[in-house]
Formats: sequence, structure tokens, C-alpha cells
Amino acid sequence: MCGIVGYIGKDNGIDLVLEGLKELEYRGYDSSGIAGLGKSQDPFVFKEVGRINNLENKLKKQEISSNLVIGHTRWATHGKPSKNNSHPHYNNSKNIFVVHNGIIENYLDIKKELIQKGYTFYSETDTEVIPNLIDYYFKETKDFKKAIKMALNDLRGTYALLISSSLLDNRLFLARLGSPLVAGFAKDYIIIASDQSVILKHTKKVTYLEDFDLAEVSNNKIKIENLKTLKTFDPKIEILESNLTEDSLNGFPDYMLKEIFDIPETIRLASRGRIDSKKRLVKLGGLDSVISQLEHIERIIIVACGTSYYAGMFGEYLIEELADIPVEVVLASEFKYKKEPISRSTCVIAVSQSGETADTIAALNKVKDFGVLKLGIVNVIGSTISRITDAGVYCHAGTEKAVASTKAFVSQIVILVLISLRLKNVSSKQTKEILKELENLPAKIEELLAKKEDIKKISQKYSKYKDFLFIGRGYDYPTALEGALKLKEVSYIHAEGYAAGEMKHGPIAMIDSNFPTVALIGDDSLYEKTLSNVEEIKARKGPVLVITSRVDKKIKDLVDDLFYIPRSSNYTESILTAVFLQLFAYYISKDLGLNVDRPRNLAKSVTVE
Ligand code: M6R
Repeated sequence: MCGIVGYIGKDNGIDLVLEGLKELEYRGYDSSGIAGLGKSQDPFVFKEVGRINNLENKLKKQEISSNLVIGHTRWATHGKPSKNNSHPHYNNSKNIFVVHNGIIENYLDIKKELIQKGYTFYSETDTEVIPNLIDYYFKETKDFKKAIKMALNDLRGTYALLISSSLLDNRLFLARLGSPLVAGFAKDYIIIASDQSVILKHTKKVTYLEDFDLAEVSNNKIKIENLKTLKTFDPKIEILESNLTEDSLNGFPDYMLKEIFDIPETIRLASRGRIDSKKRLVKLGGLDSVISQLEHIERIIIVACGTSYYAGMFGEYLIEELADIPVEVVLASEFKYKKEPISRSTCVIAVSQSGETADTIAALNKVKDFGVLKLGIVNVIGSTISRITDAGVYCHAGTEKAVASTKAFVSQIVILVLISLRLKNVSSKQTKEILKELENLPAKIEELLAKKEDIKKISQKYSKYKDFLFIGRGYDYPTALEGALKLKEVSYIHAEGYAAGEMKHGPIAMIDSNFPTVALIGDDSLYEKTLSNVEEIKARKGPVLVITSRVDKKIKDLVDDLFYIPRSSNYTESILTAVFLQLFAYYISKDLGLNVDRPRNLAKSVTVE
């Protein structure tokens, strides 16, 4: 989604802002732009469609420098990708510049009113109303800060904003409502971004803006006023903890493949220091402060989106089976509008790689005043979800750059396994077995990854099909849903995930020789049942690829393709299957010649509704 980078300091900040925008490339964007104030406060703005390199090449030809720069990568929401629609946006007099993440819901009403007052518009965006609204109020009040406040008061929706102007003497304004902004204090400058990964290279001293904060930045200082509480204060400085691991490609052709190969280490990192091998107990420091509350929990609601939602479904099976607590998994986008009774003995767990997904944040905000315990399973340290929950467990998966989530999904499941065992917290035989299996899992995944050429061959055989069905039971059900999502995301092939037991209730009607099924058959008590689904599909001439750990001549003779994964416990075997499916989607996308790291229309983290 859109990204923001800003600089205010003594030197020329253009290169720094461009570097920061490149750091945000992985989040997905279609155009970029920067604005600054040159010699004698002459404002400039440059925008380009496509890669940031286009903007960079354009800027190389200019003789400009600026010690106050704002930059933006845009992921189109209002209007197609074009120079006019890209940020920064400016007012009619071209002296107020704004970069914006979020959505202004009432922009059409504001635009209409501004047009009546004589303003004109060059873009189709919601953002363009903001500099003009500030302009309007500034002309009325002659007070820039007051004008911003009055403009913000008119806006309905969400925003992270950087506002600069040639009417100001080297000052920059920042505002936040429902979209993240973090400012970093480097030695001689302040850097602002929508994602802390941009800041880490410059400083670890940061301050996070909260909702309704309006900050004024000048002379290496920030002053914040919260427009809700009306209090003015100095920023609270936090020291950025970083879980950013080596995030270069390391010889891999793409981030998706690199991140799939990171999975064994991801599992080790997610469990490191959290398993007492001698006593066979789980220790989760992040939950220590709420452990007594957790003991009284009678119901758990997991809220999440996309792949994190499927990890949440995995959590439902795990927690109900291991900890004996009823769990509901709800899509965050549904939960936030759903009316349902929630008692104080409920715990809401938000699962999110980025910690910035707007719907998941909204779901947590919905229960803010309900007195329920809010936990987070988050990868990005310091992200909004990690800060608005009461406690939580970090995934420690390192930066995930490919849009399609792979290693973060696996780490979320590992954390859910650990939480399930922590809830139960008995040194039972079962706990021992599961923890042992978790310890063995990285080596088993390495064994699977070593067969990547075999997986590639199978995938290439299937890349010609236009539709797929993924089926599984138990833990293989969320895995099937996730396998279908992965294929859709990176190959644009229609794929549906189904509980295998549902086949006869409808989906079997689609089966013919052009509609392959990927059947996930865990080596458990449901094995025979899923096998009979496969027989029914074969009887209708549907091509079938089976993923299983059970060596069985019966399947071998029955299906078109078969891939054996290493045997693991019922709780962890589906993780191996999920890794196979990630590679399956990866190789199909590559075979089709697509951009696997940045699939069309998608963004890494969805920070607007
Ligand atoms: O950052 P989050 O885990 O909250 O993101 C949720 C979804 O947007 C995300 O999982 C999305 O579905 C991915 N593209 C999946 O690969």
C-alpha cells in the first residue's frame, strides 16, 4: 500500500527520501513522487508513474536540493495510476504540499464545496482536497497550524499526513488518524515514515504518533498536540527493537523463494528461548503480565485477514484440541461490523504479520472498551497492533518482503502451537511430543526444500490449468484454503479451498478432466475419508495431485501425481504441506513468467479498509 517518507534537517534530503521510498517498494505501489523547498523556499514537486527508478532518473537531471523533503509511493485507491493522481498533492497556488496514506471518505462533499468557492482540481484523488482545504482556512485565519486543525476537523476517514509549505519557515506538520506514522531522531535530522523499516538505518530513537496527534517538526525538535485530548506534549522517545534480519536476496532470484527457504530458521527463531527443553514447558515472556487473566478465559475470538486468518483457523483447531477452550475465528473485516455478545471472560487474539492491517486494527478498536483481554501475534516489532494490545507474542520471522506471506504464516502457526500449550501449561506426554516435533520440524522442512526440483517439475505440469480445487480435513483444511490463496495471489489462477467432506455438497459438480484437485491427506484417523473423496474425483476424470506422508500403494495407483512429505505429528505435519503448497504456487507463477514478489493489484499490508 502507499508509503510515506519525510526528511527535515541541515543537508539535502532528496537522496535519503528516495532511498526510504525504495525500502517501501515491497509493500506495492504504482507511482511515486517527492516535493521539497529549494533555494529561497522555491517549492518543487516531481512525480512519476511506475518504478521509483523513473523518479530517480528524473531527479538526476534537476539541479535541486532541499533540507525539507516529503515523498510518497502510491497504491491507487481513487483514480488510475497517473502523474496527476500521484502524491505529493498541492493546492491551487502550489504552495502547500501533502502526502497521504489512508482514505478520506467525505472527499466528494468537500470537493464540491471547494469548487463552489472557486477551487479547481487536477486529480481524481481524495487527497487533493486536503491542501486546498488548508489553503482555504489559512486565507481565513492567517494561522497555518490553525488552518490544518480546521481542515482535519472536516475530514472523515483515515490518514497519515505530512504537510509542508513554502508559507512556513522550515517547519513540517505530521498528522495521524488510523494510519501509522513514526518519526526517528537521527543526529542532525528527523526522518519520518509510515514504516519503521525505513528509519532503522538512520536511528533507533523513535516516536510513534497516536491517533489525533498533530506534530510540528522544526530544528530537530517535535512538539505534539493531541486534537482529541487537546494536550500538548514532548514526544515519548522509544528505542526501536529490531527483528530485521538480513533482508537481501542472498543469491535467491526472488524474495518469495528466499523467504520459503528462511522457514527452518524462522521456526527456530519463533521457538528460541520459549521452550524449556528439560522440563518440556513453554515460556512466553510476552504473556507473563496477563497470565492470571488468561487462566480465567472461557472463550477466545481470533481476528485476522488473509493468510493470517488461515493461521488463525489453525489456532482454532489447536487451542480447542490442546487447551480445551472454545475458539471462534472471525475475519476482521466482518468482526468490526458484527453485533455479538462478548463477555469479560473473552480473549481477543489479533494475528497479523505487519501489525498494520486496517481491518484487524479496527476489530481490536471495536472491543477497546469491553474490558476483554486483547492479545497480538505480530511479526513487525513496534507496529500498531503490538502497541494497542494488552500483551502478545512476536513471531520473530524477520522482514517478509514478498507480498505473498510464507514464512510469517509458518511462524504464526508455531506461535499458536506454543500459546495452546501455554494455556494448558501441563507437562503432559502430549506436550513433550509436540515440543519434540517442533524441534525436529526445521530439519524436516530442510529435507522437503532439498526436493525443490521435484516440486518444480510437478508444478510445471500443472501450470497449464485454469482452475484448481484444494481439499483437506482437520489441520489440512486451513492449509488447503491457504494453498488456494497462495496460488491465486501469485499466479492469478482460479483456485478454491474446501473441506474435503464438503465435496459431495456442491464442489464435485465442477470436476472434469480440466479441473485438477490438490488433495492434502494427513497420515491420521481421517486418512481413509479423504482418500474416498479422491476416489470420487478420479471416478469423474479429475486430475489429482496428492500430498501425504503415508506410503500407500493404493493411492499411488489411483492418482496422477503424488508427493511425499516427511512424517510429523498431527499438529505439525500440515506445516510441511503448507511449505509444499507455497513452492507449488511459486513455481507455477515462475512458469507463467509472472512477477512473483509483486503480484498485480496487491499490496504487502492493507492499511486502508
Ligand atoms: O499483515 P497481515 O498479516 O495482517 O496481513 C493480512 C493479509 O493482508 C495478508 O495475509 C495477505 O492475505 C497476504 N497477501 C497473504 O499472502
